[in-house]
Amino acid sequence: MGIPFITAEEAAAYIKNGDNVGLSGFTASGTPKVVTIALAQRAKELHAKGEPFKINLFTGASTNDYVDGELARADAINIRTPYQSHPDSRKNLNNGGIHYFDGHLSHVSQDLRYGFFGGIDVAIIEATEFSPNGDVILGAGMGMSATLAMMAKKVIIEYSSYYATSFRGFHDNYVPLDPPHRREIPIYKPDDRIGTTVLHIDPEKIIGVVPSNASESIKPFTAGDEITARIGANVCDFLAGELRAGKMPKEFLPIQSGVGNVANAVLAGLGENPEIPRFEMYTEVIQDSVMKLMEEGHCKFASTCALTFSDEAMLHFMDNIDFFRDKILMRPGEISNSPEVVRRLGLIAMNTALEADIFGNVNSTHVLGNKMMNGIGGSGDFCRNGYLSIFSCPSIQKGGKISAIVPMVSHVDHSEHSVKVIVTEQGVADLRGKDPLQRAETIIENCAHPMYRELLWDYVKLAQRNGGHTPNNLHACFALHQAFMEKGDMAQVDFSLYY
Ligand code: COA
Repeated sequence: MGIPFITAEEAAAYIKNGDNVGLSGFTASGTPKVVTIALAQRAKELHAKGEPFKINLFTGASTNDYVDGELARADAINIRTPYQSHPDSRKNLNNGGIHYFDGHLSHVSQDLRYGFFGGIDVAIIEATEFSPNGDVILGAGMGMSATLAMMAKKVIIEYSSYYATSFRGFHDNYVPLDPPHRREIPIYKPDDRIGTTVLHIDPEKIIGVVPSNASESIKPFTAGDEITARIGANVCDFLAGELRAGKMPKEFLPIQSGVGNVANAVLAGLGENPEIPRFEMYTEVIQDSVMKLMEEGHCKFASTCALTFSDEAMLHFMDNIDFFRDKILMRPGEISNSPEVVRRLGLIAMNTALEADIFGNVNSTHVLGNKMMNGIGGSGDFCRNGYLSIFSCPSIQKGGKISAIVPMVSHVDHSEHSVKVIVTEQGVADLRGKDPLQRAETIIENCAHPMYRELLWDYVKLAQRNGGHTPNNLHACFALHQAFMEKGDMAQVDFSLYY
C-alpha cells in the first residue's frame, strides 16, 4: 500500500509532548505551513485540559507565522534553535517562555547528527513533488531537510500544490560524511553541483502526506531610504577601490549578502557601478533584488539555501523559470554556509550589525545587551571565513538617541579578529592592519555620527589613562548604554564623572 494522504490534524496527533521536531525550509521558504497550525491548535486544546504540550523545534533558519507565530502564541515551544525573527517568538524567548539558544546556521545539521541535542522524533518536510518510493522534490528553501530525512524516526510530508511549475533541477541535496571520515566538500566554483536533485526519504518512515496550498507569504521589503542608499554606495565605492588597488582579483569574488534593506541597497549599488564586473553569489538567501540583477545581466549565478522571494516575485520567477534554470542552485544550509567553502571561494561577506564598537567588535543580536533580536544566523559562518568581512549599519537609531558606534559592544557576536571593514552612511572604516587605537580613530572619524564623535573621543582619552594595548575603562565602557537606559538618550553621557 502506498503512502496515505492524511489531514493536518491526523499528522499533528503523531507529535508528542517533549518531541524533537525538525522542519524543512530556510527563512519562510520551504517551511511547513499547515501541520504546524494544527499542532498549535492541539497544544491549545491540551493546555485547556491542563495537560502539558511543548515541542523542541529545530529549523534551518527563521520561519513564518505558520510556524514560529502559531506555535509561540500557543505556548507550544520548549527548546528553539537556531534562528527566529517572529515578534511572538521573540517576545516569548525574551520572557523566558522559550529556551532559545543561538548558533551558526552551518552547525546545526552536523550538531544534530553528532547527537548533541538527542534524536529527531518527527520531521515535517515540505515537498513540491513526491513519489511512493519516498523520492521528493523540495520547495523554495532547503535548510536541514537532507539531514532530517536521514535522522528522523518519522516523517510527515507536506505536499504543496501551490506552485504550478516544478522546482525540479534547482536543488543540490548533499550530506557530508562526519568525522573521522569527512572529506572536502568538492565545491570549487559557486555553480559546482555535488549532490542530487531528488531527496530520498525511507518510505517506511513516512507517516503520511498532508496537502497544502499555501504560498510562502513573504512580503516585499519596504523601499530603502536615503541612509540605506548611502550605506550601499559606500560599500560599492569601497569594493571598486579594492579592485583598483589590486587587493582583490580583477575577476571580482563571489558575494554573500545578508537580508534587509541595507543588503538590497548594496546589491543594487553593485549592479549600477560600472567598475564592478558581473558577479556571482555564494550566499544563504536571495531576495527579489537578486532576480532583478540576474535579469539585468549583473548577477551571473547564485548558490543559495533559499529563494526568499515575495509572493509576487515568486510568481514572476515561476513564469520565467527557464531563464533562471542555469543561474540558481539551492543547497542545504550546512553547504550554502560551509566555512570550508566560504574560505576556499574567498567570499566578500556583507552582513548587518546592530552596533559595533570602536575596536571592531560587532553585536548583531542583542539590544542593550540582554534582549534577543533574531539570532546570529549565517553571519558568523561567512564573516569568520570570508576574504573580506564587511559589517554595515546606520550610524544612529531612534532619531539619534542611540549611537550604533559605542565604546564597547553590549554583546559580542563577531570579534575584532574577524571583522575587516565597518560601513555606515557616514563612511568606511578599513580595519585591516591597524592596532586598536588606530581602529578606534578610523571608526570614530569615518563611521560614527558627527553628534557622537567628540563623546567617543572623550571615552578614548579617559581609557588611555589606564595604559595598555587596547584603551578601555571597565567602569565607563557601557556609559552610553547606561545613559540611554536612564535618560533615554546616549548623547546625555558625561565621561567627566569617571575621572
Ligand atoms: N540599539 C538598540 N536598538 C537598535 C539598535 C541598537 N544599537 N540598532 C537597531 N536597533 C533597533 C532599530 O531601531 C529597530 O527598532 P524598531 O523595530 O523599533 O524600529 C530594530 O532594532 C531593527 O533595526 P533595523 O536597523 O531596522 O535592523 P534590520 O532590519 O536591518 O536588521 C539585524 C538588523 C542586525 C537585526 C539583522 O540584520 C539580523 O538579524 N542580523 C543577524 C543575522 C544575519 O546577519 N544574517 C546574515 C545572513 S542572511
